[in-house]
Amino acid sequence: MPPIAPDMRARLRDLLEFYASAGVDEALLEQPVDRFAARPETKPARSAPAAPPAAANSGIAAPRQEEAPRFAAPQGSAAIPDEAQANRARELAAAATSLDELREILAGFDGCNLKLTAKNMVFSDGNPAGPLMLVGEAPGRDEDLEGLPFVGRSGQLLDRILAAIGLDRTAAYIANVVPWRPPGNRTPTPLETEICRPFIERQIELASPRVLVALGGPSAKLLLNTTDGILRLRGNWRMHVTRSGKSIPTMPTLHPAYLLRNPAHKKLAWRDFLEVRARLKTLAGDPH
Ligand code: URA
Repeated sequence: MPPIAPDMRARLRDLLEFYASAGVDEALLEQPVDRFAARPETKPARSAPAAPPAAANSGIAAPRQEEAPRFAAPQGSAAIPDEAQANRARELAAAATSLDELREILAGFDGCNLKLTAKNMVFSDGNPAGPLMLVGEAPGRDEDLEGLPFVGRSGQLLDRILAAIGLDRTAAYIANVVPWRPPGNRTPTPLETEICRPFIERQIELASPRVLVALGGPSAKLLLNTTDGILRLRGNWRMHVTRSGKSIPTMPTLHPAYLLRNPAHKKLAWRDFLEVRARLKTLAGDPH
C-alpha cells in the first residue's frame, strides 16, 4: 500500500470520526462498493422481479450467492413495495406450523432491509416450552455476532433479573420484535417493525407461553397495540391477543439497556418481575 500523505491521513481520521458519530461503527466489507457503478447491473426491473421459480412460488428467497456483492439489490425483493412485503410476511408467518418451520421461513425472507446489513439472524434463545416468554426490541452488536438474543451487557442484566425470581433460560424463551440488528443499533423504523410484526406474533402464538414480558417501549407498543409510553405502561398487566384469539397475560417493563443507563429505575423493574413471579406461581397452582 502506498504511504498516505499527512493531510490525507487527517482527512481520513475526520471522516472516520464523522462515521462514528453518525452511528457507523463497523466496516462490513474489505473493499468499498461503488454503488453508482453497480446500479445499472444489479437493479432489478420494477415490473419483473427476477426471483428463481421456487422462491417466487413460496415467497422464500433463495440463499444469498457467495460471490454476490453484499449490497446488491436482493433478488425478487427490491421491486416489491413495502406494503406487499408486509402482506407476504403475514402469509408466510401464518403458514408456519412449528417454531423450527417459522425460523426457516424467516431465514429465507428477504423483505426487510435490515437483513442486508446484519451478520446473523437472531431468532430465539431459551426454552420455548417454558412458562415465560420475554420479547425485546432488536439485536445489538453482540447478539448480531452470536446469533442469539440478549447475550451482551443487557442480556447479562436480564439473566441476573431472571435469577432473582428463580428462573433462567431453561424456563424462559427469549426473542425480539425484529430479528436483525439495525445498523449502529438505531431504532427499527415503523416500517421495519411492521414488516417483522407477523413473525414475532406467530412466534408467540406457536410458543404459547403462560406469561409474556415486553421488554421496553417498542416491544410493549407492538405486543399490546398501544401508543402509550413504557413509563406509563410498565407494572400493569395487559393482554396480548394472538391472531387465533388467545389472550396471554403480558407485563410491560423497562428494557435492561435502559436500566443500565438509569440504575435508579431498577427498583421499578424489580417490582414488575415480582408480579411476574407471583403470576407464574398462581398459574402453576402454587399459592406461596
Ligand atoms: N436489546 C434487545 O432488545 N434485544 C437483544 O437481543 C439485545 C439487546
